[in-house]
Amino acid sequence: MAKLAAIGTLSLAAIQAAHALVVPETAVPNQAPLGATDEVTALIKGDAMGPHHLDDDIASAESFFNAVSSIRGHIHDDFSQAVADLIGLGYTGDLGTGGSADDDDDGHHHKDHHHHPKHPHDGDSSYTIYELISKSKYTTKFAKLVDEHPHVVDVLNSTKANYTLFVPIDKAFEDIPEDHKKPSKEFIESALLYHVGLGEYPARRILHSYTLPTALDEDLLGGEPQRLRASVGLGGVKLNFYSKVVAADIAAKNGIIHAVNHILVPPPYVGRIITLFPDRFSTLLLAYEKTDFVKFIHGVNLKGSTVFVPTNEAFHWLGPRANTFLFNTDKGREYLKAILKYNIAPNATLYTDAFYDETDSKQKQNSPVHESRIEHYDLPTLLGEAHISVDISRIFGFASIKVNGFTRVVVPNGVAKNGVIQVVNRVPLPPHKGHGGHQSENDGGIEIEDLISRLEDWV
Ligand SMILES: *[C@@H]1O[C@H](CO)[C@@H](O)[C@H](O)[C@H]1NC(C)=O
Ligand SMILES: *[C@@H]1O[C@H](CO)[C@@H](O)[C@H](O)[C@H]1NC(C)=O
Ligand SMILES: *[C@@H]1O[C@H](CO)[C@@H](O)[C@H](O)[C@H]1NC(C)=O
Repeated sequence: MAKLAAIGTLSLAAIQAAHALVVPETAVPNQAPLGATDEVTALIKGDAMGPHHLDDDIASAESFFNAVSSIRGHIHDDFSQAVADLIGLGYTGDLGTGGSADDDDDGHHHKDHHHHPKHPHDGDSSYTIYELISKSKYTTKFAKLVDEHPHVVDVLNSTKANYTLFVPIDKAFEDIPEDHKKPSKEFIESALLYHVGLGEYPARRILHSYTLPTALDEDLLGGEPQRLRASVGLGGVKLNFYSKVVAADIAAKNGIIHAVNHILVPPPYVGRIITLFPDRFSTLLLAYEKTDFVKFIHGVNLKGSTVFVPTNEAFHWLGPRANTFLFNTDKGREYLKAILKYNIAPNATLYTDAFYDETDSKQKQNSPVHESRIEHYDLPTLLGEAHISVDISRIFGFASIKVNGFTRVVVPNGVAKNGVIQVVNRVPLPPHKGHGGHQSENDGGIEIEDLISRLEDWV
């Protein structure tokens, strides 16, 4: 495709930005308030997350999503079934044009320009997004689906607002199981709207965005737009870990089009996502099981949430005494349940670059306090009065998130249907009473007495 060059430029810009910022790791104190090195290392290595778990996190996320996206073999759960259903749609009915010509995506189509001076892939701001994808021979399958959904046609053809469409190329519809069942019309419409970003996000802007809002309004987020997660690496820009931008900045009258290589599926529930990564979160899953937490959480009415999800390593850090107490004693399990509640901020969905505040105390307590480049949030938790604090620091457009002062968010902004997942490298605990301070780091784990004194008010 003619616009592939734009991706090269984008990666180069990312690399240059990163090189300009690189500082030797040893030169930066452990608790550097701005976390610049982490972010820069992450950027170089391929994603906006901390360096320690970076490679594994990316590898596990990618291998999972690649497996889902290129479904071959049997489908083992409803999420991949949903993906399969959607992908399968491309092969129902008449496919029209396209087909094998799409195998050539390295720019050999330039000769078309003689016949079509307004070739859609060069963009043309006298056509709407809808008109451009309808004309393009690379996007016939997505365009066909859009045509079956008048509301989506209206959105993409409207000039009352600007949008950013992430259009899956026909190739994205290729990997399908033979025996898909037809998904509901509602599901397909949601999925189509999830490809539409609200506002104009040219590649330059995506480079500095962590999430972006879509035209899919989500009741379970209080009616706010569901968001797409963006990450930048050497391979270019990826959405939700698995869909790569393969052509960028195609201009339209009502916005911008980027082409992506995998279909974007609206994200599943927080709980579902956690179960998809047992090698990362098996301890947390065990904690949920031991405390009958699923039953508890189903009884809570939520309009979105921020779920701080500790890795297995985070639990390990609590030390053997604390873990034995929490997991293997009746008394301890009550404390474990309190910890799990403390790690959920109800009705408050906090992304690196957006905050959906559906709490009662809106504005009064939860509007961020801006101190230079740090945004501070004080979020309610399911423990009632015990709040959790979140600091988002930004430097040169790169952000890092810290919880209760020092706990790092190592994988930010896992978008979910009913909230957002912030993966943390320590188990967040309420601060010590009376100190108003934050929990402190200690390699030997945490004393049971300390755990009890911090949590006993809520057990
Ligand atoms: C899309 O909008 C253009 C005007 O920008 C209009 O001419 C065309 O009829 C519209 N197409 C559809 C399918 O609504
Ligand atoms: C859409 O974007 C263009 C170019 O950035 C701008 O001129 C126009 O006013 C925008 N339209 C709307 C409805 O915001
Ligand atoms: C969240 O908001 C909903 C709707 O406003 C409310 O009914 C519910 O009690 C809130 N949940 C919590 C845990 O505050």
